[in-house]
Amino acid sequence: MRLSCRRRLRNGSALSHSSMFKIAARRAPQCPHLCRSESTSLSQHRLFYQNKQLELHAAKEANRLTLRQLVFFGRSMDEDRLIKSANYVRTELPVRIAHRLRDMQKLPFIVVTQEEVAKVYELYWIAFEKFRLYPPIDTLEDNAAFCQFLSTILREHSTVIPSLSLGLSLASPHFSPDALDSFMRRMLVSRISRRVLAEHHIALSEIHSGKHTSASHGEPHVGIIFTGLNVKRCIEKCANLLRQRGREWPEVIIDGHLETNFAYIKEHLEYTIFELLKNAMRATTSHHPGAAPPPIRATIVAGANEVSIRISDQGGGLYHTGVKTPSDLFSFSHIRNAARLQNSRIGALRTVSSSPHGMRATVDEQVGRWHQNLASEPEGNDADPETDAGIAPHPRIGIGLPMSNIFATYFGGSLELVTMDGWGTDVYLRLPKLGTNLEGIEV
Ligand code: COI
Repeated sequence: MRLSCRRRLRNGSALSHSSMFKIAARRAPQCPHLCRSESTSLSQHRLFYQNKQLELHAAKEANRLTLRQLVFFGRSMDEDRLIKSANYVRTELPVRIAHRLRDMQKLPFIVVTQEEVAKVYELYWIAFEKFRLYPPIDTLEDNAAFCQFLSTILREHSTVIPSLSLGLSLASPHFSPDALDSFMRRMLVSRISRRVLAEHHIALSEIHSGKHTSASHGEPHVGIIFTGLNVKRCIEKCANLLRQRGREWPEVIIDGHLETNFAYIKEHLEYTIFELLKNAMRATTSHHPGAAPPPIRATIVAGANEVSIRISDQGGGLYHTGVKTPSDLFSFSHIRNAARLQNSRIGALRTVSSSPHGMRATVDEQVGRWHQNLASEPEGNDADPETDAGIAPHPRIGIGLPMSNIFATYFGGSLELVTMDGWGTDVYLRLPKLGTNLEGIEV
């Protein structure tokens, strides 16, 4: 094994650093900074140079943006601004990736020996090198090629979240809950931020070249930001998609400020609402077996600075989850959330992290896959209320709530769960309305 890795290194493959990471992980049990231990014996100069590049990039601060800046910059797009946007993405992403590679190098040895964690480290090294070496973009043709390049990397990274979640769940007994959760938060916020920049740039380029982005459905948008996102419509869409699928799903009653519109990333809002409604429907259906489930109430309030959405269910509360405080459901540590180490959860994560599609991010994609799964599900499988309601084919990987929390807080919003055990749960999602908050500090 060692020989074959050396051979790969001599060939000058971009994998060299990650291979080192893995070899070192196997051979240097005392060494917390894995890349160092092998540097005396393998491609010293190359490695030294790569590490130096990593340090240089990691030493730079991320150039964080607000939602409003993303909209203003993208609003009046011309060739010059598009090229500027491309070069910003080209130089900003390696800085953000470098921060997270540094973070991963500081992980305890036992954590980085997890195959899935090493896999993510490898993906990030490769991406870092590709961005670092990508030549400046000068023309629209260059930009078209750059967008292709971005789309490929976005696809290649589709399994990052389930892989990290699996690796860290397995490593969770060796990690303090605070350390694990703050590491995971940095990884996820940073990943969202990179994908936002990449996807926004691709969308701006498509609009500039006259193509319509498939997700826009004619609604006003600048890149991936929908400037008049209607909250009621978003809740209705998610509720309808969920109710189409389940035979006994509760109805969703929407009240409050029904005309509320604001500028936001539609995909983030839809993902969050979809996950929150799915949890509420699942709990309500399970808590009222054999009876018509009581409705879920979604209340929208447009305040001066924020849009709030409360989702109230009568699903019996959160006592059955075994967590001490509801926010422990956001945790990736098994100490806070014992479900992390359940066999079914680990099995589902293995399935998703080895799937070529990884985790589908958008509601439309998720639902599309559910329908495919449903089509192959045998008829008449009435084993439990969830199967009956048509949920079971979707692997429960335990990512929905933590990801919703990260999406909510990325631009300074919040997500809070309030449980009334024996009755139900209220979830409060608050999102800033003015778009003036910077992205999370962890990018
Ligand atoms: C990710 O999805 O993990 C990324 O970092 C994507 C980015 C490099 C475009």
